[in-house]
Amino acid sequence: MAAVSSLPTRLMGKVAVITGGASGIGECTARLFCRNGAKVVIADIQDEPGRSLCRDLGPERATYVRCDVTDESHVRSAVDAAVARHGRLDIMFNNAGILDDPKPRIVDNEKADFDRVIAVNLTGVFLGTKHAARVMIPNRSGSIVNTGSTGAVVAASGTHAYTCAKHAVVGLTKNAAVELGRFGVRVNCVSPFGVATPMTEGYFKLRGEELEKKIDEYATLKGVFMKKEDVAEAAIYLASDESKYVSGHNLVVDGGFTVHNPSLGFFK
Ligand SMILES: NC(=O)c1ccc[n+]([C@@H]2O[C@H](COP(=O)([O-])OP(=O)(O)OC[C@H]3O[C@@H](n4cnc5c(N)ncnc54)[C@H](O)[C@@H]3O)[C@@H](O)[C@H]2O)c1
Repeated sequence: MAAVSSLPTRLMGKVAVITGGASGIGECTARLFCRNGAKVVIADIQDEPGRSLCRDLGPERATYVRCDVTDESHVRSAVDAAVARHGRLDIMFNNAGILDDPKPRIVDNEKADFDRVIAVNLTGVFLGTKHAARVMIPNRSGSIVNTGSTGAVVAASGTHAYTCAKHAVVGLTKNAAVELGRFGVRVNCVSPFGVATPMTEGYFKLRGEELEKKIDEYATLKGVFMKKEDVAEAAIYLASDESKYVSGHNLVVDGGFTVHNPSLGFFK
């Protein structure tokens, strides 16, 4: 009897660009995509972590390109680099994002901070969607996955800038899904709850399990900590043909956080 390969092949033959792929959720997703047969282009502004990840994944599987997602020429070049190297682009994961200073009061918010968060977290997703669409439309296929947040669904879980940007990412996802559907291109969003990454480590000034315990204080689902891998699993589902009839969807990965209004205390 022939040996059955146990290697996962959910993305065999596919080519992906992952913005913000040098760290956190993006890095974890790049590893999962490669383990499943994809070739990835890591598009980030952190050169050494990005290059080091590519060395680890293997140069035939992963390439690093410096790409500031707020700069259209960079995003265009990152997409073109994927096509030049691998002949196609199947998956665009618009994942790069930042948090801003936690100043909850709008009167304390600076316009420059607001603009910076919108530029990375929203304009970056717009540019990634635009340039992915440019090369996916002629192929009549492709999957664009954007990163939202629970802050894309409920209020008061982030700053005004972050909440605006993430809500708008869901709007852009839906609009683009309608426009690009006629070309066979799907557009979806993945919206995580809190995960321990360099982003949240910087925000909470905690690391590892201490940070996970802190995040768990706000969680609805208890007894399990949310991990980067949980977001990567949602991203690979949306990126792969397993979700071939899913488009315009915001896949919230939050253990029920956003469906819970604790003010009534109904199940206490
Ligand atoms: N960690 C969480 O709890 C959480 C929750 C909800 C949503 N998210 C979202 O997930 C995404 C990834 O966040 P993470 O937690 O992995 O953070 P992270 O800081 O570990 O990774 C973000 C990556 O984006 C890159 N980046 C930042 N600005 C960039 C720019 N202008 N151009 C290109 N790359 C840029 C960074 O260099 C970094 O590698 C973000 O969009 C974030 O808003 C994270």
